[in-house]
Amino acid sequence: MKKKTLINYKFKIDNSIDHRDIRSVVKVMKSGVLSGFVASNNEFFRGGPQVRKFERLWSKFFKSKYCISVNSWTSGLIACLGALDLEPGDEVITTPWTMCATATSILHWNCIPVFADIEKDTFCIDPKSVLKKISKKTKAILAVDIFGQSCDYESLLRISKKYNLKLICDSAQAILTKYKGKYVGTLGDVGGYSLNYHKHINTGEGGVIVTNNKRYAEKLYAIRNHAEAITKSHSVKELKNMVGYNFRMGEIEAAIGIQQLKKVKKRVQIKQNVVNKLNNGLKDLKGLKLPVIRKNTTHSFYIYPLILDLKALKISRRKIFSALVKEGVQGLTDKYVLLHLYPIFQKKIAYGSNNFPWSTFKNKTTYRKGICPVAENLQNRTFLGLQIQLYDLKKKDIELIISAFKKVWREFGII
Ligand SMILES: Cc1ncc(COP(=O)(O)O)c(C=O)c1O
Repeated sequence: MKKKTLINYKFKIDNSIDHRDIRSVVKVMKSGVLSGFVASNNEFFRGGPQVRKFERLWSKFFKSKYCISVNSWTSGLIACLGALDLEPGDEVITTPWTMCATATSILHWNCIPVFADIEKDTFCIDPKSVLKKISKKTKAILAVDIFGQSCDYESLLRISKKYNLKLICDSAQAILTKYKGKYVGTLGDVGGYSLNYHKHINTGEGGVIVTNNKRYAEKLYAIRNHAEAITKSHSVKELKNMVGYNFRMGEIEAAIGIQQLKKVKKRVQIKQNVVNKLNNGLKDLKGLKLPVIRKNTTHSFYIYPLILDLKALKISRRKIFSALVKEGVQGLTDKYVLLHLYPIFQKKIAYGSNNFPWSTFKNKTTYRKGICPVAENLQNRTFLGLQIQLYDLKKKDIELIISAFKKVWREFGII
């Protein structure tokens, strides 16, 4: 006889859009101006009224002098890397445990991503590993506040200062996460957030760059909007990396962003409450390590990360994962990302087919298996994540998820 599945319905997909977002979109539509940008030296170089209002509000909220909206955080990362005066062949130390755009933004400027390992409890880049990866060519650290957990900024800032490295904060997943009272994203030279569809708040696609440095801000405004076209009219003397793109946010997205910002606190709180309930329900399960939160920080919980203690469990992750999925647990993943093992890094081919840019610089950077043992062990054996950002999880859903874990633990005789 077929066993009864514990959860036999689909969780409701999370949706941050309400009537206020809709009203603001209609207003923009009626105005007939869907983008206010012009790539020349006039008042519209920095976009239309919604874009400028959105950036003003974001600046105030995040206490960042400059906010530059973009059409995605991938665009934002590329713009950030370009603004930092990097040269082809410069090395940027980053983490393999992140979404691929973190590293490809480095490639865009013909710089070399060098992967440091991650901390075993927080999944964030490990400052001790960063130290080991520094070479004469290292110019920057690209840190990622992964899953909503803050990086160890005290250590990263100390290293940046000592070795004269720029610090970029990829806080795509960590909106409102605080490190010692300050928003992550704002702690380095440049940083920012993603506003794609899956994030705590979203504009469909979109992102925001934050910086307190005027010179970087000027370069970021330029790279966002066809930099090369305005260098003459803006009397820009330094032409390095003044190669621009169309990274501009539209008026509709900015209008949605203004509304979304109003509910960001509430939306992050909802995820934190889900986590508190899950932690409470799962805390007594043997061999299951609940998420840790770094001291003096908050966590926005884009993903709810768990770690299996295989010695205590005496059972493989594959079996536990399959059993939980069979019980109807949704949004469960037993994988994240090991970027250094992606084919473009393995084969060292990115643009064209002649191993560019690596061959040009005779770089010895290696991307072989084993260079990030902590990340690889998590990926291959012990990581289990619940993608809580995907669903509007209600009390009943959370209770059933907890029951499913308990049932699986019981059936495998783990308790
Ligand atoms: C850590 C990280 N970096 C960069 C990005 C890219 O952001 P976007 O999708 O807005 O381009 C994402 C998107 O999920 C991400 O999670």
